[in-house]
Amino acid sequence: MRQRIQIQLTVNGEPAEVCFASYKTLLEVLREDLGLCGTKHGCELGECGACAVLLDDQPVLSCLVLGVECSGRRVTTVEGLASDGRLHPLQQTFADLGAAQCGYCTPGFLVTAKALLDEDPHPTRDQIREALSGNLCRCTGYQQILEAVEAAIGTAPASLGTAGSRGTGS
Ligand code: FES
Ligand code: FES
Repeated sequence: MRQRIQIQLTVNGEPAEVCFASYKTLLEVLREDLGLCGTKHGCELGECGACAVLLDDQPVLSCLVLGVECSGRRVTTVEGLASDGRLHPLQQTFADLGAAQCGYCTPGFLVTAKALLDEDPHPTRDQIREALSGNLCRCTGYQQILEAVEAAIGTAPASLGTAGSRGTGS
């Protein structure tokens, strides 16, 4: 019988308790056990960035992190970016500037860009490019994504945190 474990963590600002098979990745726990399907399942090899989330405010590839490693920690997914019914400035600029086309890569870009702007509110284009270098997009050619991040500079709060209530029950 496969071992199950139970952990407590904070997901998008809300305490959560979740029970899952011990082999599961954070990506699987988010999507399958917490019902947060905004984080996308791509290569599962750490190569595409579609699964990026923030773990204690640092971007990680959730396909490479075991769920058990997240006990007691803070996870922020794309569902946690909007606050008080308002899109995060990055979500708005991505929408306004056509940086999201099929959208599959978008959650990973958004959380990675949020971490960058939280760390450095005024990055250069090269710094943006470097920060997003682990995120792949098949649709946009990246130009609109870079422009959307630049357009959000100066509008993003230093840290929007993880406000909002989402379904985080197990
Ligand atoms: S699904 Fe995690 S990097 Fe591709
Ligand atoms: S918008 Fe389609 S993969 Fe990026």
